[in-house]
Amino acid sequence: MIKACIFDLDGVVVYTDQYHYQAWKKLANHMGYDLTPFENLMLKGLSRRDSLDTLLEMKGIRACENEKLMLSELKNKWYRRLLKDIDMSAVAKGAEDLIHDLRSAGMKTALASSSKNAGIVVKKLRLEGLFDVIVDGNMVSASKPDPEIFVKCAGMLKVDPNKCIVFEDAQSGIDAAKSAGMHTVAICEETSLKGADISVKTISNVSSNEIIKFNSNNQN
Ligand code: G6P
Ligand code: MG
Repeated sequence: MIKACIFDLDGVVVYTDQYHYQAWKKLANHMGYDLTPFENLMLKGLSRRDSLDTLLEMKGIRACENEKLMLSELKNKWYRRLLKDIDMSAVAKGAEDLIHDLRSAGMKTALASSSKNAGIVVKKLRLEGLFDVIVDGNMVSASKPDPEIFVKCAGMLKVDPNKCIVFEDAQSGIDAAKSAGMHTVAICEETSLKGADISVKTISNVSSNEIIKFNSNNQN
């Protein structure tokens, strides 16, 4: 029986995935390259450094450690600039209601984001009250697809991994959750994510009843 729901932030609870994309695209343009939405899928869910390494490798760009530091700072500056204007309209439609309903049904909830900026977003949009536990990119050493972030959430919630369900919009996140031994809901608009137990287009397509039904169908 599922006891905890763990949510990714960017692209699941808030639409900030678009801002990450804009900032990475601007960085690619700055280096004389483009970054298509399809190419951006490879970056989703990864830490800032892993995303940069993936981008550089994808474009065949060589950079030394200092250049990499400068490039990731530049991307972060542009991303933070975009965050300045966010308001409640950045919260994914249906996310708050779903999380409230799950909590009312007795589920524990956690936020698991690779982003070191997750705290800023959560505070600005006053989302703290939705989660029993928040784990962000400052609290883990390995980023998704490593399972560390989800294992950490389960430990802090004191819930067995096989009683957790993870909501993710990135393949790296689905892979990380699966490696942690958890169930998964993929939120994916255009492309499909491999290996997820449930797939929906947006979080507004998930009802708490579906998750509760999933519980009774998957007694462990
Ligand atoms: C999330 C996003 C990624 C982003 C990463 C690091 O996982 O899905 O697109 O690169 O966080 O974010 P940060 O805010 O620390 O640069
Ligand atoms: Mg995401």
